[in-house]
Amino acid sequence: MRSSGRNSNRNHRGAGNQRDERQQRAGRPRPEERAYGGKGGGPARPKRTKPARSREYDAQIEERNRERHDRPAPAGEGDGEGERLQKVLARAGLGSRRACEELIDQARVEVNGRIVTSQGRRVDPEKDEIKVDGLTIAAQSYLFFALNKPAGVVSSMEDPDGRQCLGDYVQNRETRLFHVGRLDTETEGLILLTNHGELAHRLTHPKYGVTKSYLAAIQGPIPRDLGKRLKDGVRLEDGWARADHFRVVQNTGKNYLVEVSLHEGRKHIVRRMLSESGFPVDKLVRTRFGPIVLGDQKSGWLRRMTHTEVGQLMREVGL
Ligand code: URA
Repeated sequence: MRSSGRNSNRNHRGAGNQRDERQQRAGRPRPEERAYGGKGGGPARPKRTKPARSREYDAQIEERNRERHDRPAPAGEGDGEGERLQKVLARAGLGSRRACEELIDQARVEVNGRIVTSQGRRVDPEKDEIKVDGLTIAAQSYLFFALNKPAGVVSSMEDPDGRQCLGDYVQNRETRLFHVGRLDTETEGLILLTNHGELAHRLTHPKYGVTKSYLAAIQGPIPRDLGKRLKDGVRLEDGWARADHFRVVQNTGKNYLVEVSLHEGRKHIVRRMLSESGFPVDKLVRTRFGPIVLGDQKSGWLRRMTHTEVGQLMREVGL
């Protein structure tokens, strides 16, 4: 299935192998940091399109930085009280604390108009104006991520049995993230993570009926009216379940790839509906959650959602 990415075979290995792989990968940048474009590790850079800059402009900036850097902070400012600057930066989504310390070392961070290069600086995120590369950071930032969950990963932030879980993909965050709903351990695909509790709650609440789409691999031949049957409703042990849409995406005679969209979220719902109709699912991938699509995102990769996507999600549930 295309959306599961080139690494899909790897995902069917046991949890032990996956853990070994993770250990081997230790020391490499987290997927999300790679996604920001840092090839060999290094700090996550805020996404920003820079206009072409002239040498004069660069010289002016350097001069400005020197002035600001050399000017001493007023007595008492930034000592003792408040939170450590790198912690505030990390919470605002600029990367891990370590990456934020590097931003400070690189003189890219300013507080109240002065470049800061000391790691001990404390700030009050409510009062101090904090900028990175000249852009103000929000004091209370919400984080919104989309993960292509590989098969074998448990849909929880922690797993007492040491199995690979969603928490492994978002370690060392300053803020607690929630996963928006669940996927079965063997189901792959799109799962959203955020620290916006109300958004997470609404996206999974039946009242808002957010549509999710899945690609299911089943064995054919299938009857012509399978879609109609699923849309009319399938009787399951915990009540009727209906699909909103159904289409055959691929058909190689015996093997079928079908897309099922529905707006409810009962456990194993797609697998149960297809199985009850006589077509057990060999493989299941979630490809869409409301307005958010999985697209070409590789298996195991985490990405920040764009502002547009977050806006669409918020509108979807009346926020
Ligand atoms: N339906 C299923 O059967 N499994 C999932 O993980 C999600 C929907």
